[in-house]
Amino acid sequence: MENRESLLKIENLNVYFKTENGRIQAVKDVSFEIGKGELVALVGESGCGKSITSLSVMGLTPKNCQVEAKSISLGGRELTAMKPDELRKLRGKEMAMIFQEPLTSLNPLFTIGYQLTETIRIHNQISKKEARDRAVELLKKVEIPRPESILKEYPNALSGGMRQRVMIAIAMANNPTLLIADEPTTALDVTIQAQILRLMRQLMKEYSASILFITHDLGVVAEIADRVIVMYAGQIVEQADVFSLFHRPLHPYTQGLMNSTIKINQSDEVLDTINGVVPNLSSMPEGCRFHPRCPYAREDCRKTMPELSAVLGNRYVRCLHWEELGGDQNG
Ligand SMILES: Nc1ncnc2c1ncn2[C@@H]1O[C@H](COP(=O)(O)OP(=O)(O)OP(=O)(O)O)[C@@H](O)[C@H]1O
Ligand SMILES: [Mg+2]
Repeated sequence: MENRESLLKIENLNVYFKTENGRIQAVKDVSFEIGKGELVALVGESGCGKSITSLSVMGLTPKNCQVEAKSISLGGRELTAMKPDELRKLRGKEMAMIFQEPLTSLNPLFTIGYQLTETIRIHNQISKKEARDRAVELLKKVEIPRPESILKEYPNALSGGMRQRVMIAIAMANNPTLLIADEPTTALDVTIQAQILRLMRQLMKEYSASILFITHDLGVVAEIADRVIVMYAGQIVEQADVFSLFHRPLHPYTQGLMNSTIKINQSDEVLDTINGVVPNLSSMPEGCRFHPRCPYAREDCRKTMPELSAVLGNRYVRCLHWEELGGDQNG
């Protein structure tokens, strides 16, 4: 983030759910920034709060959800103070989101052309013809062959990769400054994944957009991100630029994630997963939330919740003993 002007700034985000078993907290005191033109990856195992963090920014949280934040600002504008109507105007224009399964966000009853031109026309006072030309242009940008005929197709007629390209086209339709991509390539096969990632990088440069990229795949992170935020059990546990993180992961959780990724990619060796499971939201362990699974946990880790501390210049880690752990992948 250093040297970059900030685009998105989240301060002290807390997210709660009302459930049958009472109120549970899914996100605890999350703060981070995304710079202009920066690609930040948000990583962590299933259930750690990645999606709900990004949905809180978009103002798209489910009904039983309660979002509290000191501030969420986009380009200097305070989102927490906005009325639902204002926020709706911002979505699809200033900020857009792509989901893992495009079929859930594309309407199966309408053609690709209709959905794309409607998105353009909601935010721009232009004729149908102009919107259609712009739609063709956008489909070309996302490298869809025969864009004119694809406009007449329904979502179900397209492959998963093509649908995801259409979703990207819709998301980029109004030149958003912030694009949030929630596991956009997870459902696709590896070759298509690589193409989509390359495409997103390219579009991001061309449109000078910032991206928050959510994934549990560290391989993808290494390929695409400028900076990485690691979440565990609703909290940020580590934050660093991508090079520093891979060179020397500081948090035992990040180290665990990294070991499993490297082993899968390099050999048929048995996957070295992190022992245990993510704790239940209604019964978080005392002290460090990772301590029950941490191979280095000591007495104080069971009692004291570590702060997210600024370390080594421009990094953050939430661990009482990070300095003693080495954090060297090879050592
Ligand atoms: N509508 C809901 N009601 C109650 N709890 C919820 C609801 N939606 C999400 N949660 C809980 O909030 C936590 C965070 O969920 P979230 O979807 O943000 O996780 P995630 O990191 O995106 O996981 P994944 O990698 O599986 O997508 C989880 O423990 C989840 O069970
Ligand atoms: Mg999710």
